[in-house]
Amino acid sequence: MLKVRNLSIFYENALALNSMSLDVNAGEIVGLFGSNSAGKTTLMNTVAGLTLDLKIKEERKGGERITVTGQVNFEGADILNVPPSHRVAQGIVLCRERHPVFRDSTVDENLRISGYTRTRAETRARINQVYDLFPHLVRLRHRRAGLLSGGEQQMLAIGMTLVAHPRLLLLDEPLLGLSPAMQGEIVRAMKDIRQQGIAILVTEQYARPIFPVIDRGYVMENGTLITSGTGMELMDNPEVKSAYFGM
Ligand SMILES: Nc1ncnc2c1ncn2[C@@H]1O[C@H](COP(=O)(O)OP(=O)(O)OP(=O)(O)O)[C@@H](O)[C@H]1O
Ligand SMILES: [Mg+2]
Repeated sequence: MLKVRNLSIFYENALALNSMSLDVNAGEIVGLFGSNSAGKTTLMNTVAGLTLDLKIKEERKGGERITVTGQVNFEGADILNVPPSHRVAQGIVLCRERHPVFRDSTVDENLRISGYTRTRAETRARINQVYDLFPHLVRLRHRRAGLLSGGEQQMLAIGMTLVAHPRLLLLDEPLLGLSPAMQGEIVRAMKDIRQQGIAILVTEQYARPIFPVIDRGYVMENGTLITSGTGMELMDNPEVKSAYFGM
């Protein structure tokens, strides 16, 4: 469903993505692994359309700071110049890194805000599904999001994306800074989400916690693809194994 081909991105003269190619097929959970500044967020933002937004803003200011070459195809159509809101309507929904939520709004309000393009009944039904997926959030529904723990905010951030009806969910480092128990909750939720027919592309610095749920993975360093394959295939590479699996 998602096909990225030879995608290169320059911020000024710095190459953030170097001819990156990657696929996500329907029903898959695909991992994208890389250490700090490998280019994970740049790739996610480009698939979601945020890079296009940033590029247009910078051009309005008179600069030509960001250069994008290559292809991003979704369901066979080139989307590189499609605005982010249209991509959401097509089902590409990004959960950005560090679980951004509206801190002064309650959990329930955050979820309702995410359904702004849908009818109230549809949104309510979706929100109930989120509470089924994360029962932990039920008793927090009237609490201000800014008062939640990091793990609870991450659940809420993922819940917000689900209200927007994704077909391809992009999760940018959803486990970052979470306790092992919370990480386990998020990984379990990823399985349930896939069960609903939603494909997932997920980035992480370390492959180990999500290794059990990924169908395939890609490893990148300095914007360049190093290797790809099933989890087992990735572990066959000794350098990848020690750097991304800690083994
Ligand atoms: N708006 C920007 N302007 C200039 N350089 C940028 C911009 N955004 C990212 N970069 C650079 O692009 C490279 C890739 O950054 P990116 O945020 O995609 O990495 P990452 O893999 O998500 O890292 P992390 O694990 O720290 O989140 C880095 O060298 C970063 O400094
Ligand atoms: Mg990042």
